[in-house]
Amino acid sequence: MGLELNAAKLVKSFGARELFKIPHFHVGEGESLHLSGDNGAGKTTLMKILAGLDKPCSGRVDVTPNARRWWNNRLHPQVIYLHQTPYIFAGDVEDNLAYGLKIRRESRKNIRTKVKKALEWSRLEPLAKQSAHSLSGGEKQRLALARAWVLEPRLLFLDEPTANLDTHSVDTVGELVSDLLHDGTTVMVSSHQNNRVTEQCKRHLRLSNGILAESIHSQETPQYA
Ligand SMILES: Nc1ncnc2c1ncn2[C@@H]1O[C@H](COP(=O)(O)OP(=O)(O)OP(=O)(O)O)[C@@H](O)[C@H]1O
Ligand SMILES: [Mg+2]
Repeated sequence: MGLELNAAKLVKSFGARELFKIPHFHVGEGESLHLSGDNGAGKTTLMKILAGLDKPCSGRVDVTPNARRWWNNRLHPQVIYLHQTPYIFAGDVEDNLAYGLKIRRESRKNIRTKVKKALEWSRLEPLAKQSAHSLSGGEKQRLALARAWVLEPRLLFLDEPTANLDTHSVDTVGELVSDLLHDGTTVMVSSHQNNRVTEQCKRHLRLSNGILAESIHSQETPQYA
C-alpha cells in the first residue's frame, strides 16, 4: 500500500528567525521530488520534519494510512530519512545491512537472504566483510541506500546523496534511485547540483527565503512560480 504525505501550515523557527512557512504541501504515492535551495535554506530541517524526525513549531504533517500525529508516537516504519552525512554503524558492511532487520525482529534466515540481496543490489558484495567505517565516501553512500532499501521504504528522503561524489559514483547512486522509483517508492532528494539523480525527478521544488516554490513544468531548468 502506498503512502501519501500532507503537510499544512508548517512553520519552523529558531529563536526569532523564521526558517520557513509552508501553507500546504502534498506528496502522492510514487512521486519523485527534487528539493533545491542554497546552503542554510532549510532543506535538511524540512526533510527531517516531513520524515517525522523533527517537530515543526506549528502546523502538521500527516502520512496516511495510519499516520495521525505520528511524530508524537513512533516513527512511521515505511518512512526513511537518509542523513546528509551517511550514518555508519560499527561492524562490517553485512552488519550494517542487518541492523534494521534485527531491530524489526526478522528471522535469521530472512536476514541472511535480504542482506545478500542488498549486497547484490548495491554492488557491495566484494566489500561484505569490510569494516563499514573504512569504506570510501561513495561506498558509504551506497551502503546507506542499501540499508534503507532492505527495509522496503515507501517514502524515502535522501539528503544530498551525491555531495562529494565523483561522476561515476553519482551515476551509480542514480541507478539505485532509478530502481527505487521503478518499484514505486516515493523519493524526495535534496541536492544543489542537477545530475543523474535529480534529473529523474518529476517535481522540482526550491526552498528560498522561507518559501517553498514548485516549478510549474518538469523541465531541465525549472522556473519557479
Ligand atoms: N538546532 C538548531 N538551532 C539553531 N539553528 C539551527 C538549528 N538547526 C538548523 N539551524 C539553522 O537553520 C538553517 C537551515 O539549516 P539546514 O541544515 O536545514 O539547511 P540546508 O538547506 O540543509 O543547508 P545545506 O545545504 O548546507 O545542507 C541554518 O542556518 C542552520 O544554522
Ligand atoms: Mg542540508
